[in-house]
Amino acid sequence: MQARDYLATEVLRDGRTAVIRALKPQDRDGLLAAVGRTSDQSLYRRFFTFKRRFTDREVDFYVNADFVSHVALVAVLEEDGRPVIVGGARYIVVQPGQAEIAFAVDDVHQGQGIGTALMRHLVALARQAGLRELTADILPDNAAMLKVFEISGLGITTRREPDVTHIVLQLPSVSLLHGEGLGTAG
Ligand SMILES: CC(C)(COP(=O)(O)OP(=O)(O)OC[C@H]1O[C@@H](n2cnc3c(N)ncnc32)[C@H](O)[C@@H]1OP(=O)(O)O)[C@@H](O)C(=O)NCCC(=O)NCCS
Repeated sequence: MQARDYLATEVLRDGRTAVIRALKPQDRDGLLAAVGRTSDQSLYRRFFTFKRRFTDREVDFYVNADFVSHVALVAVLEEDGRPVIVGGARYIVVQPGQAEIAFAVDDVHQGQGIGTALMRHLVALARQAGLRELTADILPDNAAMLKVFEISGLGITTRREPDVTHIVLQLPSVSLLHGEGLGTAG
């Protein structure tokens, strides 16, 4: 499946089904509404500053992923009969083979497995794209984000500084995971 058409479903801890799909430019309002429902603390953990207002240019950047150097997924739940964006994750390639990742789930939907699900699907796309490393900077007390990274099963290196923890996650190559290239001949 092309990254820009990505679509999957996940059953959450409370039994509800979330759609995990590629972010589209038409999601602008839905994404901003999700930001509006997200607490100052969660936004601080995401942006490292008390950021709630975004310029049009910033929003343009966030909603117009090119699905090559910038891949973005959203988690969508049906609420009151309509689809609502409740979280998102993205990676941005910073150098060949390496991308930075970032996540946010609105507060009332945290702890349901959405972050973990987004991570799983983002990793699948990153591997499909041939990336080798994912990096993230998180606040040292961000236990939930660290947990999501730890339970991804990827090799993880953490480097702690007083104000930030740098994370590097190693992606196994697709061919190794599928058992290809391991000398099946003979
Ligand atoms: C980090 C974040 C994306 C995780 O998303 P989520 O949907 O809440 O994560 P999950 O429900 O998949 O939970 C993942 C794990 O973290 C654990 N967890 C959740 N909150 C926790 C907390 N405050 N302390 C310790 N562990 C916590 C969960 O129990 C779960 O572990 P388990 O599977 O062993 O039970 C979400 O909390 C968030 O949006 N935070 C604000 C933004 C942010 O911090 N972004 C990171 C910077 S890039």
